[in-house]
Amino acid sequence: MIMKTIAEYSAEIESALRSIEYPGGKLSGLYQPIEYALSAGGKRIRPVLVLMGADAFGDCAAKGMKAALGIETFHNFTLLHDDVMDKSDIRRGRPTVHKKYNENTAILSGDTMLTLATKYVAEVEDDKLRRVLDTFNDMALRVYEGQQLDMDFETASEISLDDYLEMIEGKTGSLLGAAVKIGALIGGASDKDADLMYEYGVMTGLAFQIQDDWLDTFGDATTFGKPIGGDINNVKKTYLYVAAMAEGSKDVEALKSAYQIPAGDVRVKAVTRIYEKLGMNEKCRKAVGHYSAKALKALNATSLSEEKKESFRKLAEKLIGRKK
Ligand code: IPE
Ligand code: IPE
Ligand code: MG
Ligand code: MG
Ligand code: MG
Repeated sequence: MIMKTIAEYSAEIESALRSIEYPGGKLSGLYQPIEYALSAGGKRIRPVLVLMGADAFGDCAAKGMKAALGIETFHNFTLLHDDVMDKSDIRRGRPTVHKKYNENTAILSGDTMLTLATKYVAEVEDDKLRRVLDTFNDMALRVYEGQQLDMDFETASEISLDDYLEMIEGKTGSLLGAAVKIGALIGGASDKDADLMYEYGVMTGLAFQIQDDWLDTFGDATTFGKPIGGDINNVKKTYLYVAAMAEGSKDVEALKSAYQIPAGDVRVKAVTRIYEKLGMNEKCRKAVGHYSAKALKALNATSLSEEKKESFRKLAEKLIGRKK
C-alpha cells in the first residue's frame, strides 16, 4: 500500500487529539491546562513517526493511533516541566502553562499527562504490550537523564562534544527513536528492523535538536514560536556553544567574556555576534547534515521498500530545513 503524506498523518493526529475528552467541573484545574497544552498546534513529529512506523511495517496506522497520542502527550508533559526548568515564558507563540496558570499546575498537570501517556501506550495489543511498554519506559528514563545533564551542564564549563551528544541523545533523540520504534513494533516489524528504525529516529533527533539550538539563536521568534536567546541567557551548552569553545582560539576568550555580561539582550547580541564570526551557521548546517545522513544510513539498512523509505526520507528532510 501507499503511505500517506506527513500532512495527512498529522491531520489525523490533530483530530484524534481534539476528540479526547477530559474531566471538567471541579477538576478543570487539573485537566484544562492539559487541553491548553495539547491544543496549541505543535508540529506533531513524534506521533507522525508512530503512525508512519505502523503503516510502513503493518499497514495499520489506525492501530498505532493510541500510542501516537501517548507519545505526543508524553512529549507535552516534558515541555510543561522543561519550561519551568528553563524559565521559558512563551511556547508555540502562547504563554507556557506555568505562566498562564502557575508552577504547581505545570507540575501536577504534567504528572497527569505522564500517566495518561503511559495508559494510552499500554492500550496496544497484548502480544505487543511487553516490548512496547519497555521501549516507552526505557525512553522516558533516557529523557530524564538527558534533562538532568542539560541542567548540570548549565553550570559546568568544560563540556565536550561527546558530553553534548550524550545529553541530546537522552533528552531528544530517544523520544524520536522510541516513537518510530513503537510504531514499527505495532506494525509487526522484526527486531532488526525495529532497532534500525530506532537508530533512524535517534539520529534524526540529534539533527533536530542541533537545529533547535540554532533556531534559538538565529531563528525568527514569530515563526519559531519561542523567544530568541533563551539558551544564551541560561548558559545552555548548545551545539553552538560547544562547537565554538572547541575552536580553541582567542575568540574563546571573547566568548567567555560575553557570557559574563548579565543575562539580557546585550549578552544575547554579544554572544550571537561571536557565533556569527566563528561561522556557527555553517557549522550547524554541517552537523545537521551529518546526523541526518546517519539516520538515512540506518533507514536504508531496513527491509522496507524503496517507496516506504522515501516517506521517512521526506520527514527527515523536512526537519533539516525547519524554521519552526
Ligand atoms: C521541542 O520540540 C522540544 C525539543 C526537543 C527541541 P518540538 O520542536 O517538536 O515542539 P513542538 O511540539 O513542535 O512545539
Ligand atoms: C528539549 O530541550 C528537551 C525536552 C523538553 C525534553 P529544550 O529545552 O531545548 O526545548 P525547548 O527549546 O524549550 O523547546
Ligand atoms: Mg530544556
Ligand atoms: Mg526548554
Ligand atoms: Mg531549545
